[in-house]
Amino acid sequence: MRSSIVVFAMALNAVTAPVLASAADHDFTLKSVSVTWPSDSRYFPDGPGADVTNANCLTCHSAGMVLNQPNLSKAAWQAEVEKMIALYKAPIQPDAVPEIVNYLTNIKGGTQPTGGTLGK
Ligand code: HEC
Repeated sequence: MRSSIVVFAMALNAVTAPVLASAADHDFTLKSVSVTWPSDSRYFPDGPGADVTNANCLTCHSAGMVLNQPNLSKAAWQAEVEKMIALYKAPIQPDAVPEIVNYLTNIKGGTQPTGGTLGK
């Protein structure tokens, strides 16, 4: 058993030593790569309450899940946020809820709600 470990170690050394040596012979050049993120709805658009909404509503799904919904009344947004908490156990502090509901009503509701309520 002991000798097989020694043999294995020697074999491993025979494989890795040239690799390590050749790596040491070469200079590595690190390059910065410019990445343009796709402009999908990763975050909620700026506005009062955007930060708290970003902090509480992006753990499980993207902002697109919310932004692609029809406009809803304030009551419907309230019900939607409560559904996230009750049904999906979203860890949202109760005192953050009014700010989130106001924000959602501002960006996707207002005076022209186009949807009733989202599926319960
Ligand atoms: C704990 C995880 C979790 C968090 C946090 C969360 N959601 Fe969800 N949300 C879900 C799940 C799960 C679905 C259903 C996904 C599906 O049907 O594919 C969903 C779906 C939705 C939908 C689509 C309509 C519906 O009711 O299915 C909306 C709108 C939505 N969430 C809004 C929010 C908002 C606003 C917040 C922040 C207040 C939030 N979510 C936070 C888990 C979460």
